[in-house]
Amino acid sequence: DWTPDSFIETTIAGLKEKLGDDKVVLGLSGGVDSSVAAVLLHHAIGKNLYCIFVDNGLLRKDEFESVLESYKHMGLNVKGVDAKQRFYDALVGLIDPEHKRKAIGRVFIDVFDDEAHQVQDVKWLGQGTIYPDVIESVSVKGPSATIKSHHNVGGLPDFMKLKVVEPLNTLFKDEVRKVGKALGIDNNILGRHPFPGPGLGIRILGEVTQEKVRILQEADAIYINNLRSAGVYDKVWQAGTIFLPVQSVGVMGDERTYEHVVALRAVESLDGMTADWCHLPYDLLAKISNEIINNVKGINRVVYDISSKPPATIEWE
Ligand code: XMP
Repeated sequence: DWTPDSFIETTIAGLKEKLGDDKVVLGLSGGVDSSVAAVLLHHAIGKNLYCIFVDNGLLRKDEFESVLESYKHMGLNVKGVDAKQRFYDALVGLIDPEHKRKAIGRVFIDVFDDEAHQVQDVKWLGQGTIYPDVIESVSVKGPSATIKSHHNVGGLPDFMKLKVVEPLNTLFKDEVRKVGKALGIDNNILGRHPFPGPGLGIRILGEVTQEKVRILQEADAIYINNLRSAGVYDKVWQAGTIFLPVQSVGVMGDERTYEHVVALRAVESLDGMTADWCHLPYDLLAKISNEIINNVKGINRVVYDISSKPPATIEWE
């Protein structure tokens, strides 16, 4: 019978045998899968696992620092890489969501390749691929698609010539969470909502600028903190804030304002394939809206997304 403990024991033994004294590089995303994969590999090979965590400038407010801290606390050999400017530069002038995704994916691969090169004699690429990723490898989204589109642009990056080790590729998401829990991984990482690889880059509709990222991070932090303190964060599959490419008229004191609009999204789902919008309490929505408008300069209107998937999608881009 499958249990998290038996899985952990056999997987670590198998990894030790397979990897011996070889070095492995692995990209951490802050998400559940890459974190659990890293901890398993760390148990098997210790300091021979070189983790790379890239700050793409498109993460939630303070997320890079706090997640990096959690990783270090877990004993992982992790290097945090500030590549914010490289991502912002690559996004200048891009409006089309797929162009933005490709640009973000391409920069990620370049940054990761640069970092992987600094690890002498590395033999393996570790990945947090889970079973549904294996079956859905034809999907248009996700890292494999990113790598493919990069592949079409130029040659294969060097790190992709590495052998691949994927300790979670037989597991479903709920099993990964159970394994993570049995490994003692912090609930701050295990319980977090899904977050797209391109991050806020696809939650800012239209062109991404640093100023829009800053505004959106502030609004989003207010939203997520309120979901947490109201005790609804764990009941929601995924929540996020979207920066809309419109301005609307408002009034502050005696002054007319003409500022930006953010949309709040919260959905219930089992697997992200279909989703219903969450019926959040009106009082909670009112509190969040007031806090955002009163505290985030540049926003004078908040709307709530009441679309389900299908026919809408969870993200707006
Ligand atoms: P949609 O918007 O298609 O999203 O309903 C379904 C799930 O996938 C996530 N998502 C992405 N994840 N790269 C990712 O790694 C992407 O480009 C991407 N686009 C959407 C989305 O957050 C949701 O969990």
